[in-house]
Amino acid sequence: MPTPFARMTGLFKTYNLGGATIQALNGVDMDIEAGSFSVIMGPSGSGKSTLLHLLGGLDRPTNGRIEVGAQMLDKLDENALAIYRRKTVGFIFQSFNLLPTMTAVDNVALPMRFARVSRRERHEQALKLLDKVGLADRAYHKPTQLSGGQQQRVAVARSLANDPQLILADEPTGNLDLSSGASIMRLLSELHKSGRTVVVVTHDARMTRYATQTVHIIDGQVVTEAEYEAVLASLDEEMGEEEEEQ
Ligand SMILES: Nc1ncnc2c1ncn2[C@@H]1O[C@H](COP(=O)(O)OP(=O)(O)O)[C@@H](O)[C@H]1O
Ligand SMILES: [Mg+2]
Repeated sequence: MPTPFARMTGLFKTYNLGGATIQALNGVDMDIEAGSFSVIMGPSGSGKSTLLHLLGGLDRPTNGRIEVGAQMLDKLDENALAIYRRKTVGFIFQSFNLLPTMTAVDNVALPMRFARVSRRERHEQALKLLDKVGLADRAYHKPTQLSGGQQQRVAVARSLANDPQLILADEPTGNLDLSSGASIMRLLSELHKSGRTVVVVTHDARMTRYATQTVHIIDGQVVTEAEYEAVLASLDEEMGEEEEEQ
């Protein structure tokens, strides 16, 4: 077996909120193979965003280990973690997270400002990335002048700014209509085919279509597909009963 691109071992994440503790992750073990398209499925509140934040170095686990390439994320200091985020990871969020006052091309160029490239080169490179996602003709539009699907395309282009090996997407189609969502999925699939490792978290089963690996999580734990289906079915049943009572 080749060593996986990313390996998470015994991951726990506990949040303390107003005296209450919340176990967002409860001992997750997961491998992400190099060059895979991994889809992590889980209902709302199951810990998907938490897991992605840890993998992307946006947050640290309460316990457990995360290895990406040769790096042990839990051992990196803040500075090294910032470099990891910038060089290795591209993030795509459900709500696009574009800066509203900046044009599309400036949003895409923004993550490159730490790299040793001139402003002019950053601009040229950002235009190329926008062209790649089919938005060459919207480069000077601001986010409010773009549709949701177009804004997410800009966000995909931005995620590629520093040519990362790992693309992490948190419910990337959650705010989109079906057809824009499908085109974002195709775009992510193209990135995967070009050799990047892509991890998408979602509660939408349609996303598994392009996956080379699907992992299911419930209540911060990895479960089998059969367990997952059983839990979802019992949730559906509860909802049905509540509707009947009303
Ligand atoms: N910053 C936080 N502080 C306190 N609780 C949090 C925080 N982030 C997430 N949680 C809680 O952790 C659990 C998992 O959340 P999250 O990872 O966002 O799930 P998902 O993305 O699957 O909806 C939820 O119960 C959520 O309320
Ligand atoms: Mg989430």
